[in-house]
Amino acid sequence: MTIQDFKIQVATGEHADYAPQICDEMAESAKARGTGIAKRSPEYVANKMLEGKAVIALHKDGTWAGFCYIETWSHGQFVANSGLIVNPMFRKVGLAKAIKEEVFKLSRKKYPDAKIFGLTTGLAVMKINSELGYEPVTYSELTQDEAFWQGCKSCVNYDILMSKERKNCMCTAMLFDPAEKAKEIEDKMKKLSHKATLLERIENALKKSTKTIETLGLGITKLTDI
Ligand SMILES: CC(C)(COP(=O)(O)OP(=O)(O)OC[C@H]1O[C@@H](n2cnc3c(N)ncnc32)[C@H](O)[C@@H]1OP(=O)(O)O)[C@@H](O)C(=O)NCCC(=O)NCCS
Repeated sequence: MTIQDFKIQVATGEHADYAPQICDEMAESAKARGTGIAKRSPEYVANKMLEGKAVIALHKDGTWAGFCYIETWSHGQFVANSGLIVNPMFRKVGLAKAIKEEVFKLSRKKYPDAKIFGLTTGLAVMKINSELGYEPVTYSELTQDEAFWQGCKSCVNYDILMSKERKNCMCTAMLFDPAEKAKEIEDKMKKLSHKATLLERIENALKKSTKTIETLGLGITKLTDI
């Protein structure tokens, strides 16, 4: 089995029949991990598909393979790619990575100025997020939208979160800030162009000194001739 056996796409209303299976698997996996999660109903998941705010992976035989969706907070200033789930039959093939890449692309297209964030205890997700350019941050950098934090209520660690006044908990917060990234790229370009100018100046100086040697009429055209 390889990643080529799967189709990863933006979900539509056509995929709504998969919503109950997706929700069941989300609940089962949360139980197995011993964590709680924000509960999602099949209606909620199906609606995300209808709105074009979700990515679904299907095996070539039509079996559901994975899912993830977009949520927005603080009036669209923040986006979270939530509810990542891969069918246990198809784990460790690279599906989570491929789905997250697709949902990240979709989020950037739909909300180019939004900060994209995630809260997770999972090493796999942390790895994938890092590769996408997310960086670990404190909770104070995340959305302060009450509706988002309400989602933590169904987590087994909610008491810990509240006892720490929502400043930290068991999850690692990660954030992709498009403004920061644009600045990083600009700084890198500046450094590169500075290096290029320096190289150009060295090249010109070398050309000049070769010419000087030639015009001295010494018949020396290469520095190695000296
Ligand atoms: C976590 C989960 C989404 C990973 O899905 P997956 O398709 O098996 O992951 P991938 O094959 O794309 O692996 C991505 C990377 O994570 C690593 N990884 C996968 N599962 C891992 C695990 N349980 N522990 C540590 N690393 C793991 C892979 O080795 C890979 O790393 P690499 O790129 O360095 O090789 C899947 O196990 C799942 O659905 N779990 C239950 C729900 C869940 O935990 N969701 C995340 C909520 S934040």
